[in-house]
Amino acid sequence: MNVTFLLNGETVEVDTHPTQTLLDWLREDRRLTGTKEGCNEGDCGACSVMVTDDKGARALNACILFLPQLQGKAVRTVEGIAAPDGTLHPVQQAMIDHHGSQCGFCTPGFVVSMATAHLGGRTDHNDVLAGNLCRCTGYAPIIRAAQSVEASPVPDHMRDTPLHLAKKTQIPAPETSDALADWYMAHPEGTLIAGATDVGLWVTKDFRDLGDVAFLNRCTDLQQIEDQGDSLRIGAAVTMTDVLTAVRDLHPSYAEMIRRYGSDQVRNAATIGGNIANGSPIGDNPPALIAMGATLHLRRGDTRRDMALEDFFIDYGKQDRHPGEFVEAVTIPKSAPALRCYKLSKRFDQDISAVCGGLNITAQDGTITDARIAFGGMAGTPKRAASTEAALVGRPWSFETIEDAATALAQDFTPLSDMRASASYRMEAAKGQLRRYFHDLDSQPTNVLEVRA
Ligand SMILES: Cc1cc2nc3c(=O)[nH]c(=O)nc-3n(C[C@H](O)[C@H](O)[C@H](O)COP(=O)(O)OP(=O)(O)OC[C@H]3O[C@@H](n4cnc5c(N)ncnc54)[C@H](O)[C@@H]3O)c2cc1C
Ligand code: FES
Ligand code: FES
Repeated sequence: MNVTFLLNGETVEVDTHPTQTLLDWLREDRRLTGTKEGCNEGDCGACSVMVTDDKGARALNACILFLPQLQGKAVRTVEGIAAPDGTLHPVQQAMIDHHGSQCGFCTPGFVVSMATAHLGGRTDHNDVLAGNLCRCTGYAPIIRAAQSVEASPVPDHMRDTPLHLAKKTQIPAPETSDALADWYMAHPEGTLIAGATDVGLWVTKDFRDLGDVAFLNRCTDLQQIEDQGDSLRIGAAVTMTDVLTAVRDLHPSYAEMIRRYGSDQVRNAATIGGNIANGSPIGDNPPALIAMGATLHLRRGDTRRDMALEDFFIDYGKQDRHPGEFVEAVTIPKSAPALRCYKLSKRFDQDISAVCGGLNITAQDGTITDARIAFGGMAGTPKRAASTEAALVGRPWSFETIEDAATALAQDFTPLSDMRASASYRMEAAKGQLRRYFHDLDSQPTNVLEVRA
């Protein structure tokens, strides 16, 4: 299969198979070894590249990016960051001036992330660089380097224009959800690939042959967010970066949780539909979306069905999804002022949750009238806390009620111990999140970033 894209300003046509990663191709076939392989699973950012399409430029991890996902796009690696005449990019010069590189292994990835952010005028350097790990510098020199070039002009060569390819290719990448529905009916055992932030690891870590695959990244109708008045209908292939932008003002607590979802590179690829469809018990969206009262939209051929999101997760590894059926969208309310989302992980940035809670409790005249609470990391699936909710509704909105409800969590969950947390820690953490919720709604500082000694 042939894939055509722009590489550092030059058109390349590559004969590839569907799950060859960009990183392998760059290093092994092109001998462009500036892009480093650290973890090969999206965690370290050493392989960061800049990819430009019609939506603009973003940083992505080349180790979990398959070549067919690049059709018609523009890729810039660290070799293409300096100007063609060799003049260093301002971020490269700043890394030298501020001593932002020691052993240097992480440096190409940092430079690409910083140059991409510089192009987009971003100054939220901590968020931009949360997915780039450095063992040597302690980050301060790198952040100083990024800050020092905020006002420098963007070099012209950084503004790539994606290719608009007219010719049809053999890439299994349907361009509409109708075409996807047909493909999936014909290949019900096939694998859908959206952002590949999960599927990529099946290839790089499990060395799996995926058989028939279909890429969702050209299905533009699955990438839309529709404002339906009281609700937003979010297409399955909307990236977490775009979800974050859409919910920033509507659901600030959910948005703050997404800010800690993977890293910029991961959020730029990962889709909301992939996060729901994979059914992970520790996926971060489901608890928040269940607490909001989200509706899931599934499609198989021309048949569509809707369900409350919590009903989708049946058991560990088992979802209510038939062969040939895919997630088309999820609908969320635009208003949920009492919603709070708490992500607890060992590392603040770029870490999978040990416990993730979505809490949404409504009280009127001092009495609780409705409660929607869901946790990830507490069972084999993301799960609603039915007994805890029952212990709240009809009771006064008080800390005593919260304490009583916290004891009911043991009826809802029997968490497991694993490398992220022990069962008892998880249970205590969930109780703590209920208490935190009470103080949070009472406008007490409850975020670790807000609390000062
Ligand atoms: C470094 C790193 C950090 C991460 N951090 C987090 C985190 O903080 N929180 C978190 O929740 N997750 C995290 N993840 C996991 C992952 O990013 C998310 O689950 C992501 O949202 C998956 O979306 P995707 O588009 O990449 O899915 P893919 O990898 O493309 O697909 C995942 C699964 O869903 C299926 N699928 C995809 N789209 C559809 C569809 N529309 N209909 C039916 N099936 C579909 C695929 O076939 C596959 O089984 C992280 C992953 C990495 C690599
Ligand atoms: S090699 Fe670590 S993120 Fe790609
Ligand atoms: S300079 Fe050594 S890992 Fe960053």
